[in-house]
Amino acid sequence: MTTRGLTPTIMKVFSGIQPTGALHIGNYLGAIKQWVELQEKNECVFCIVDLHALTSPYQPETLQNLILEKAIVYLAAGVNPEKATIFVQSEVKEHSELAWLLNTITPIGDLNRMTQYKEKSKKFKQNVNAGLLNYPILMAADILLYQTDIVPVGQDQKQHIEITRTIARKFNQKFGQTFKVPEAKLPNAGAKIMSLTQPTKKMSKTDPPESRIGLFDEPEEIKAKIMKAVTDTGKTIKYNEKLKPGVSNLLTIYSLFSGKTVKELEKKFKGKGYAELKKSLSELLINSLESFRRKKKELLCREVYVKEILEQGRKRAQIIASSTIADVRKKMGLT
Ligand code: AMP
Ligand code: TRP
Repeated sequence: MTTRGLTPTIMKVFSGIQPTGALHIGNYLGAIKQWVELQEKNECVFCIVDLHALTSPYQPETLQNLILEKAIVYLAAGVNPEKATIFVQSEVKEHSELAWLLNTITPIGDLNRMTQYKEKSKKFKQNVNAGLLNYPILMAADILLYQTDIVPVGQDQKQHIEITRTIARKFNQKFGQTFKVPEAKLPNAGAKIMSLTQPTKKMSKTDPPESRIGLFDEPEEIKAKIMKAVTDTGKTIKYNEKLKPGVSNLLTIYSLFSGKTVKELEKKFKGKGYAELKKSLSELLINSLESFRRKKKELLCREVYVKEILEQGRKRAQIIASSTIADVRKKMGLT
């Protein structure tokens, strides 16, 4: 039997996370866990998107530290700099340039419809800046610069990948074939981890700490938050998103960290109460996140090493980005 045709093709993978805000297990299960799996067999580029972070209120004097910390977080969560490129968005100027060029072909109406824009402009009423509206264009520039095949993200970013696809197609139609049209890659489960305190809302960096488990939370914090997590009326431990959103969310988290299916967990906890599920889940999370905490502590003392990884990443990203932008400039009549 021949294996030809069965050999998986190497995909170009791109994804990014903003440097601001501490990562939670939703970010890990929705995005970073996929990155770590994908880096084994594909060409991966993972970006710290600092230019995106400027669209929400932030403190300039803290930004450089947050960027370095995010690089440490990527490494502690398992991104391997020998397999994947890790770099800082603002250090590769082509991102801003391409964003401007793509601005000129993107209808404002498409941007106005974006859910994240609507939510953020409600949240930051005093600061509804043009960058917040144009945010998805910069994201499209990030992705399209690297001729990306797949973009591993959580559910909430799907709409931004859709608009990226629309922009890519439109550009190709108008100026000739230039960009690959990328696809979003959501995890089979865990694309939308819910808040511990309001299980019908997604777990979010900007909600109060008790609503989420941080990737680097200390054991006592993990235990306290899980034990206080909102569950549902009734007693049985059964997965039902509509009727039992709280318990279902805990089962999803349990399943993804333990590798056991939800069915197996329902069996394991048959006849047992919510307190037992929570106690067992706290222990699982404390153990699973232990290596993240340890690696982060180690890396915090190795600033020079982390900066060198970002510099190597910048160089590699720069080569790909400048080649794409040269083509774009030519196609648009700029050179
Ligand atoms: P953000 O927190 O918006 O910076 O998101 C960073 C990455 O984590 C993106 O790929 C999101 O789609 C993903 N993500 C954010 N919140 C969740 C969540 N509650 N469940 C699953 N994925 C998430
Ligand atoms: N908008 C993404 C978020 O809020 C972050 C992001 C910026 C991104 N550029 C990207 C994600 C490119 C994937 C690909 O999570």
